Amino acid sequence: MRKPLILAVMLVGACNQNLTMSDQKKLDEYERSDIFRNGKVLQSPAPGSVSREQDVRDVLTEKPPMTLALVKRGQQRFNIFCSECHGPAGDADGMVVQRGFPKPPSFHEVRLVNAPDEHFVDVITNGYGVMYSYADRVPPADRWAIAAYIRALQRTNPPIQTEPHFQGPMQ
Ligand code: HEC
Repeated sequence: MRKPLILAVMLVGACNQNLTMSDQKKLDEYERSDIFRNGKVLQSPAPGSVSREQDVRDVLTEKPPMTLALVKRGQQRFNIFCSECHGPAGDADGMVVQRGFPKPPSFHEVRLVNAPDEHFVDVITNGYGVMYSYADRVPPADRWAIAAYIRALQRTNPPIQTEPHFQGPMQ
C-alpha cells in the first residue's frame, strides 16, 4: 500500500509545478498592503538611486561644502587623472603635453580663475574640445573634489613650474 501513496504525493507535487506565474498569490502594483509602513505595494526608488538608462551627465551631485578633506581628496584625484596633462600646479606643462599632446590652457589664466566651480565639474563630466570626458573614471563626488583642489591651486599662485615634478598620492 505504501508505493501508490508515494506515487500520488509525487503526482500532486508535479501538478503544482505546472502553475503559471499569473496563478501565484501576489499583490498588484497599486493594491493596498500592510507589507510596507506606507501601505503601498509599489515603492519609490531609494534616494540616490540611478537608473541604468539615465545619462551620467544628469547625476551630478550637489556641490559639497569646501573642507580640507575635500581638497585633499581632490589633490589625490587630480594627480592621478589630470596632472599628466595640466601639470602638477595647473600650468599646462604635464608630461603628456611635453610629449606632443595639445597644450591645455593654464588654470591660472584669468578666464579660468574667474570661471565658476561648475565649469570644472562640467569639463570633467562632458570633456572640452579635444579633452575627452572623465565621467566614466571620476565619479560625481570626486569631480567637486578636483574642482576644489583646482581652486586651491589657483589661490596658491605658485611660481610657474618649468619642470614637472611628481607629487605622489596623498597619504
Ligand atoms: C590627456 C590630457 C588631458 C588630461 C588627462 C586632462 N585634460 Fe583637461 N584639457 C586638455 C586639453 C588639451 C584641453 C584644451 C582643450 C581644447 O581647448 O580643445 C583641456 C582643457 C581643460 C580645461 C579648460 C576648459 C576651458 O574652459 O578652456 C579644464 C578646466 C580642464 N581641462 C580640466 C581637466 C581636469 C579637471 C582633468 C582631470 C579630471 C583634466 N582636465 C584632464 C587635456 C587634458
